Formats: sequence, structure tokens, C-alpha cells
Amino acid sequence: SLQEDTIIVVLGASGDLAKKKTYPALFNLHRLQLLPKNTSIVGYARTKMDEPTFHGKISEHLKNVDSGEGKKAKEDFLKLCTYVPGAYDQDDAFAKLNKEMEKIESGAKNPNRVFYMALPPNVFTVVAAGLKKNCYLEKGNNRIIIEKPFGKDLESSREMMGKLKDLWKEEETFRIDHYLGKEMVKNLLVMRFGNPIIDAGLNNKLVDNVQITFKEPFGTEGRGGYFDEFGIIRDIQQNHLSQVLSLISMERPKSFSAEHIRDEKVKVLKTVPAIEAKDVLLGQYAAHGDKPGYKDDDTVPKDSNCPTFAALTLFVNNERWKGVPFILKAGKALDEAKVEIRIQYKDIEGGLFEDAQRNELVIRIQPNEAVYIKLNAKTPGLHMGTLPADLDLTYKERFEDARIPEAYEALILDALNGDHSNFVRDDELDVSWKIFTPILHAIDEGKIKPESYPYGSRGPENLNDFIAKYGFKRSNEG
Ligand code: BG6
Repeated sequence: SLQEDTIIVVLGASGDLAKKKTYPALFNLHRLQLLPKNTSIVGYARTKMDEPTFHGKISEHLKNVDSGEGKKAKEDFLKLCTYVPGAYDQDDAFAKLNKEMEKIESGAKNPNRVFYMALPPNVFTVVAAGLKKNCYLEKGNNRIIIEKPFGKDLESSREMMGKLKDLWKEEETFRIDHYLGKEMVKNLLVMRFGNPIIDAGLNNKLVDNVQITFKEPFGTEGRGGYFDEFGIIRDIQQNHLSQVLSLISMERPKSFSAEHIRDEKVKVLKTVPAIEAKDVLLGQYAAHGDKPGYKDDDTVPKDSNCPTFAALTLFVNNERWKGVPFILKAGKALDEAKVEIRIQYKDIEGGLFEDAQRNELVIRIQPNEAVYIKLNAKTPGLHMGTLPADLDLTYKERFEDARIPEAYEALILDALNGDHSNFVRDDELDVSWKIFTPILHAIDEGKIKPESYPYGSRGPENLNDFIAKYGFKRSNEG
């Protein structure tokens, strides 16, 4: 791990990701005294601005800093944060950044540099090259943190990863999928492998179907131009939901080392065939009430076929899971904010209980983190009947005072500690793109069209029929 004398460079420091996620995460780590001793944080971006302006920008999203200890923590934090303006494609600009870092490092015995790329994808490789050439420590640790989009399909991902690999070694590279930093996603390994009672039931003998759902109540407001090039499947399913799928379906790793965990994730994803057109339902949101439709955004082409909603069914073709549909649903501009895994078990055999419902194990990733199991209980009283009841582990009730960290805090800390467990390995990325690329190409070619759904609804009208086709029984949901 990085003990002391660490410089964290935030590239794209004036952008949205940096402002909303990176700096607030760094601030919280600072506040918890988890940053290495003698940490400096250097912001780098093209915009010219003085330090007070920059400090104003990165303060915008810091929480609980108006008075007392919080205010003091913010002031201390801002003392660590400097800003260097510069281009993304010029050696002399990076050389200047390097000079600044050398100044900060003067006297340091074992300097470390961590480059956090909060950048648009079109400059990833040029910046990675500029940094390697001009800012790489010959003596000391160098790390680079990057975040999706990692290409648009298997080929472009391989091309991009190939270029980065020529510059940065795998052990220096930290590919973020921020879902892997979420508390409830990290909890999956514990829930499964720390609880035989749960893991023993996760197989095709007991499970009927699995749904992994991502719902957001807002549209692509303001980022339509970006989104239209990618669509919901590249934005959510190919990365976030497929990570969740691999964690819920993988076999027990030999140990919790980064390589053992990722070996198992890759192994299970390799059994998943490419998604077929018959297993896909697409949607695009339309105006409703005072809410705009996807195509009302000026940056979106009027004839766009880009899906803002998708339900895709995947199959894990191994002994444990063969025949169990995994439905990955994701959508923008829906009726609520919710991310959850819902494992629905088979009907009770023998018709013994007429009113009994199916068991379900639900892991709610956000909001209001929870794990609950839907059971049938005897109706209280003298009469023999069944009632649905929950065994409920809601985090904020069970662990009242616990603070659930932000995903980016957990991930930045891991990267500082050199722990790759919660980062995406190169082969993991490759195998996931293999599953999604054919269907993405078919959609890009207009072979599958999205159905329209109203802003604020549950999604396309055919959604209920679609999930019913894979065995899901709705009477259970609630
Ligand atoms: C990002 C997507 O990766 O994840 C966004 O690009 C999405 O479109 C976001 O809104 C959701 O993240 P979270 O942490 O709010 O669930």
C-alpha cells in the first residue's frame, strides 16, 4: 500500500465526474484520515482558472462543511488541492505538470503517483500516453485509474485496452466499475459464501428466475449527446449489471485474493452465450406531462433509435444454473429509483398450499440498502392458512449508526492500497463484451427498435409479458 508521499492527479478536474464524485470521495477519505501521509491532490484540466475559483468548484458537492469540524476539514482538505491547467495532447503541458509534482515531491524518499482519469473517452489514450512519457516515476509507484466507456464493442475495447497496455502494466491499471464499490455489491460475496443457507439454494433446482434491475427516475437531461452514442445497454448492462450477474452466479473463489475472485467471475461469464434478439425488449422514453421525451433533447437526433430502456435475458450455461433465466433490466426516466437483485424460487411442489407465494431473496443495492427473504408463514390464529411475510435485514434499521460509504471512496482507497479485487480485469472486460457485442450491433443497425414508453412509467407496455415469458410471477412483487 502507499504509505506516504502520494500525489493524486485528477485529470479532468473541472468536469462533472471530478466535481460530483472524485473530489467528494477524496474529501471523505481525508476526513476519515484514510489518505496516505503527505498526500497532495493536483487537479489538471484545460480550463485556465486561479486557485480560489478551482477551490470553489470542487467545494460545490462537499457535504456537511458549513460549520464546526466540517468547515475545518474542508479548509484543511483544500490546502492539499492545487490546480494545473494544461492541454491533453501536448508534451510540454505534461512536462509542466511533472515539474509541479517534482516540486511537491522534493525530499520524498519513496514517491507515489496516482493518475485518476475523470475524462471523456476520446482523450483516454492520448492522456495515458502523455502521462507515461512525461510524468512516469522511474523510481516509485505509478498507478492509473480509468473508467468506462471502455470502447463501444469487443473490437474497439480490445483496441483501446491494447493501446493502454503498451503503456501501463496490468498491475498499474485500475479499471473502475463503480458498482463494484457499492456496499451491497461488495456484500454479495459475504451473503453468499458466508452463509451456506443462502448459497446452497442458488441453483437451477430451486431458483426459477433471477432479475437484476436498475431504475432511474430521470432522463438523460444534459447528456443526451453522449448517451445517444452509447445507449442504456452500454451504459448500464454491459458493465454494472453484468458485474452483479457474475458476483451472484460465480462459484466459490479459492480465496478472496483479487486474482482468485476475478478468475471465478471470468469463468462464469465465459459460460454465458451472446444475447439473442428474441431475448431483448427495448424502450425509449417519450414526453409525459411536463417531462420531455428523449428526442426532445436538442443534442439527440430526431430519428434516434437509441434505447433508454432494455430488458435482456441471459443464460449461465453451467451445471449450477443451466435453464435459469437472468433478466437484466435497466431504464432511465422510470417511475422510481431502485437497483436490486430479485431471485425468485420455484413453486412449492404438490399443491399443498393453495395461497402460498413463491419465495424470493431480494438484495436491494440502493436506495435503502436491504436484504430480505419472502416467506410463507402460517396465518396467525386457529385457522390453517398461509400469509406472505418477510425476513427483513434493512441496513438503516439493523445497523443504525453505520455510515455506508460512497462507492468512489471505497474504490479510491483500494487503488491507493493496490488492491485490484474490485476493479475490472482485462479478460473480464473482454468476455463481457463478447456477450453484448452482437446484440449491440443489431441495435445499432436498426434491426431491433425501441418501443416508446411515457416518462415516469414502469417502462414499455410489453415488459410484463416479457418477464412472464421467463417464468417470473408478478403476484409476488411488492
Ligand atoms: C453511470 C451511468 O455509470 O452510472 C449513468 O453512466 C448512471 O447513466 C450512473 O446514471 C448510475 O450510478 P448510481 O451510482 O447513481 O447508481
